[in-house]
Amino acid sequence: MKANVNDIEMSYADRGTGLPIVFVHGFPLDGTLWQPQLDALSDEYRVIVPDLRGFGGSTPSQEVTMDQYADDLHTLLDELEVNQVVLAGLSMGGYIAFAFHQKYPDRLCGLVLVDTRPQADTDEARANRAATAAIVKELGAAALADDMLGKLLSPVTSKNQPNLVQTVHAMMARQPVVGIVAALHGMAQRPDSRPMLGDISVATLVVVGADDAITPAADAEAMVDAIPGSKLVVIPDAGHLSNLEQSQAFNQALREFIATRVEGV
Ligand code: MLT
Repeated sequence: MKANVNDIEMSYADRGTGLPIVFVHGFPLDGTLWQPQLDALSDEYRVIVPDLRGFGGSTPSQEVTMDQYADDLHTLLDELEVNQVVLAGLSMGGYIAFAFHQKYPDRLCGLVLVDTRPQADTDEARANRAATAAIVKELGAAALADDMLGKLLSPVTSKNQPNLVQTVHAMMARQPVVGIVAALHGMAQRPDSRPMLGDISVATLVVVGADDAITPAADAEAMVDAIPGSKLVVIPDAGHLSNLEQSQAFNQALREFIATRVEGV
């Protein structure tokens, strides 16, 4: 489905009825990251999965910030006449969830922070992003896909789920260069969200793959220590894409969180 959102056309999936859950993908991915959630959870919830601007079927723009992505989600919810949602964001999707919480806390009845971190980039990370942008401009998205694949997945996934490995590589390789470059720049500019963690009062679940090499379990534990009343789930045999690598365990954790912590809207 497509909606006119701010200055772009946004592609999204919207399936099921009941409590709305919005799933925000990470970098450099698209909404198909959440296919197992769309398939398994839309029997019980309204599952909304956008492609962020510059990814999947959504129009790219030359520049983007985490605030802009959050504004796009907010406008999409208005378009869909959805008020409060559970917002789940993986990695860059988590950075966007922090921005959304900062700007639109009243639109949240739950927050799910998946394989993400609150701190801003270090100077070294910013320099790496600039170097990555230059490589992607020169060699295309497939070069980035080749480079990132090994870091994203647990060794167990790489060994036991060859189809999933291929799916993730193809997902990265097909993203538009302009969207990737804009996102790299946007992530490099993002603020440190640690000072706001103590102000999060909405029910919050933090999920991390035990083998996540990009945003390790220690980051997740620190977030749980800082967010009042939040709950941590560590998913065995999963890396940075825990929802995809161990979808049943992930979905179970989400269902349990919603049943026990999230007040219906
Ligand atoms: C992601 O999965 O969204 C990225 O690894 C986030 C990042 O590069 O900081």
